[in-house]
Amino acid sequence: MIYLDNAATTRTKPPAVARAVLEALSSYGNCGRGAHEGALSAARAIYETREKIAALLGCPRVDHVCFTQNSTQALNIAVSGLLGPGDHVISTDLEHNSVLRPLYRLREAGGAVDFVPADRRGRLDYGAFEALLRPETRAVACTHASNLTGDVVDIAWVGRFAREHGLLLLLDASQTAGVLPIDMSALGIDVVCFTGHKGLMGPQGTGGLCLREGLEIRPFAVGGTGVQSYSEAQPGEYPARLEAGTLNGHGLAGLSAALDFLAETGIENIHAHEDALARRFYGAVRDLPGVTVYGDFDAPVRAPIVALNIGDRDSAEISDELAERFAIATRPGAHCAPRLHRALGTEEQGAVRFSWSCFNTEEETDRAAEAVRILAREAAGP
Ligand code: ALA
Repeated sequence: MIYLDNAATTRTKPPAVARAVLEALSSYGNCGRGAHEGALSAARAIYETREKIAALLGCPRVDHVCFTQNSTQALNIAVSGLLGPGDHVISTDLEHNSVLRPLYRLREAGGAVDFVPADRRGRLDYGAFEALLRPETRAVACTHASNLTGDVVDIAWVGRFAREHGLLLLLDASQTAGVLPIDMSALGIDVVCFTGHKGLMGPQGTGGLCLREGLEIRPFAVGGTGVQSYSEAQPGEYPARLEAGTLNGHGLAGLSAALDFLAETGIENIHAHEDALARRFYGAVRDLPGVTVYGDFDAPVRAPIVALNIGDRDSAEISDELAERFAIATRPGAHCAPRLHRALGTEEQGAVRFSWSCFNTEEETDRAAEAVRILAREAAGP
């Protein structure tokens, strides 16, 4: 199987990840729930994982890295814990449902939200950020890169905009953590939400949010933390404040090993490889008769994703054929990105998304391009 569905989850992990999970499974106690050797091993390993995440994402304090199961949970915590009735949020048409649904829920609870529109090519109208401002605007919540097209949002620009207008900036880094450099302190980002199982190359069930110092987030879940057991309220200190219940210590051990791999390899080198493969594929398919590719390939920085359609064929059928006839894994359909599909005019057809990781090769990429060429020729008829 040629695995080109890395934007959904990276499937090939650095070998050290599985080894670390296996070792943790047979040695960890529960972090923060005792002072015996097992509990301390888990606590040390989790603290080291926090340190590595803080270093990677520019989080100013190690204890302001709070772990969750994934970025969806992190985004729910950020939106529900920082915003409430009367607050207005600016977001974008590029968002995944993990941003959209918490914002729609905020709207139902008496908040308001507006979206910076994307054009037919998926490009954002940056002028709309200013036009959407209201006296009650409190935050910008946006993705760093579209999970559908791979187009990257100019987050330095958005950070300046948010600072100039005194707004919070919540970043969904699901597609970019481990792929592109992120320095939340330098970029003026208040919250970075990340998942561990995509570009960070760790296990599913890991993720979290990094907070700027001084940010007061109401906890989403409350419960056991291993500290202040007689208090009726959730502890106020991070990370315990946002980490009710036992952490996924085994998964975080794997994430820690994955972060070592990223540090040793260098995310710039990883991105250069993935970007070259995605652009190679784009170059091979963009002019094929009947093939429509979405996204802005003139942009110098992109996430390694190419979404396309062949004629008016349903994207799920194409994706199935790619899997069954050519053993190529892609993701069709709506990609949990309803607003962008509407903007691109692909609401009915969906799109076939190819996405790369550092473990993909030129040969795999060329075989995928050849499969698209064959399917496009067949779709054109005799
Ligand atoms: N959000 C993931 C994707 O884009 C699952 O496929």
